[in-house]
Amino acid sequence: MWSTPERFVEIEVGKPGYTVIIQVIDLLRLLCVSEQQMRVAPRTFRPSLFLGEDVKMKGFFIYHKGVIYMTFTEKFHLRIPGPTPIPPSVGRAMQQAMIGHRSQAASQLIRDCSDRLKMVLGTQQQPLILASSGTSALEAGVVNTLSPGDEAIVVVTGVFGDRFTKILNRYNFTVHRLDIPWGQACDVDTLTAFLKQHPKAKAVFMTYCETSTGVLNPVDALAKAVRDHSDALIIVDGVSCVGAVPCQMDEWGIDILVTGSQKAFMLPPGLAFVAVSDRAWKVIEQNEQPRFYLDLISYRNQMDKSTTPFTPALSLIFGLQEVLRLFEEEGMENVIRRHELLKEMTRAGVRALGLTLMTSDEDGSPTVTSIDCKDTDWNVEDLRKALSQINVVVAGGQQHLKGQIFRIGHMGYCDPLDILTTLSAIEFALNQIDVPVELGAGVKAAQEVWTQHV
Ligand SMILES: Cc1ncc(COP(=O)(O)O)c(C=O)c1O
Repeated sequence: MWSTPERFVEIEVGKPGYTVIIQVIDLLRLLCVSEQQMRVAPRTFRPSLFLGEDVKMKGFFIYHKGVIYMTFTEKFHLRIPGPTPIPPSVGRAMQQAMIGHRSQAASQLIRDCSDRLKMVLGTQQQPLILASSGTSALEAGVVNTLSPGDEAIVVVTGVFGDRFTKILNRYNFTVHRLDIPWGQACDVDTLTAFLKQHPKAKAVFMTYCETSTGVLNPVDALAKAVRDHSDALIIVDGVSCVGAVPCQMDEWGIDILVTGSQKAFMLPPGLAFVAVSDRAWKVIEQNEQPRFYLDLISYRNQMDKSTTPFTPALSLIFGLQEVLRLFEEEGMENVIRRHELLKEMTRAGVRALGLTLMTSDEDGSPTVTSIDCKDTDWNVEDLRKALSQINVVVAGGQQHLKGQIFRIGHMGYCDPLDILTTLSAIEFALNQIDVPVELGAGVKAAQEVWTQHV
C-alpha cells in the first residue's frame, strides 16, 4: 500500500465503546490517505488492529477531548531489571568497524577493559571476559571449584539462588540449600548456624542482588561469616548489581565474583565477567571436574597474553570500554550514590500510591524494586498491559511470584527523571484500569526525596 515509512495514524478517542475515527496520514504529502470509523474500547486499541501487524509506522497520534497525545513506536521506557537501556555513546562505540580478534588492537582493547574492570569489581585480580550470558559465569563458578563428590552450600533467596542449585544438581554435587523466605535477605546468624551444620561444604554460593525479589544480600557480612567459620570458597553472583552498588571483592574475601553485561553495565546481553582469588585459583588448578568452554584456567592463560581462548565478542567489548569510561567520568562513588537515590525515590513513590513494597528498606536493592500485589483487588498483569500501551515496560514476577508482583528496574542508564516518568506512568495506568489513585502523588513523593539529595 504505502511505500514510505513516514506515516502516522490519527485516532480520535471517545469513551469505551464509542466510535473511533482513524486516519492514516501520509506525512510526506500531508494528506489523509485513509479514514475509517471503528467501535472499540480505546484502552485496548492498537493501530495494528486496524492496519495489520506487517504495516510499519513511525507512530500514532491520539486525539482525546481536543488534546493530542503522541506515541512513538520506537520510543519506549525499558524499566525491567535487565536487559537495560544503552547510553547513546555506548551504542556508537559498538558500531566501530570490526577488527581482527588476534590483532594488537584487539589485545589492547581486551587488556584495557580487563584492567579497568578491577576498579568496578574491587579487586587486584585480573578480571576475565567471557562471550556468554550471566548463567555461564554461574556455571563456571561451579565447575571450576567443585570436584566429583563435593558438597556445597547455596543460599537461596529467590530464582537466581535456585539457579545455582539447579547447576549443582545437574553436575551431581551434593547441595545443602539454605532457603530464606523470598523478599528477605539472608542474615549472618542464619548462615553461621547453617555453616556449622554442614562443615564439609567446599563452597558457599550466594546472590548479591536477587533480581526476582529485589533483595540485596549483605554479601560483605555473609562472606566474613563464611571466612570466620569455614574454609569454604565464597562464590558470589553479582549479575544484577555490580556496577551500581559497593563492591570490594578482595576486601570482603570473595573468592569468585561473577557478573554480566546487560544490567548495571548498560550493555546488551552477551558478556560475562569473572574474577578469581588466589585461594580459589589453587583449588581450580587441582580440580579434576571436566570442563571446556568454561575452563577458567584457559581464560587466565590467554588473559596473560591479553587475549581470550575463543573469539571475543569484540563489538560488546568496544561498548564495555565506553561504559568503563562513563563509570570513571561519573566516579564510582557517584554511580553508587545515584542508584541509592533511584531506590529511595522509587520506594517513596510506590508507598505514596498506597502500593506495598515487597522488601524492607534495609533489604531492598538499589537496582530493582518489587511491588507486592497479591492482596490487591486488581490484576497486576492488567497494570503491566496498561503500561505497555503507553510504551512503559516493567517486569512481572517469576516462578510462584508470577501474577503476584511487578518489578521496576532502575539500574545503569537511569536517572531521577526516569523514575518520575515511570511513577507517573504507573499512576496513569492504574487510573486506566480503574484503580483509585491520586494522580501525581507518587511523583510528588519521589520529587521530595530528590530535592533532599541535591
Ligand atoms: C542475579 C542474576 N543472576 C544470573 C542471571 C542470569 O543471567 P543470564 O540471563 O545473562 O544468563 C540473572 C539474569 O537475570 C540475574 O539477575
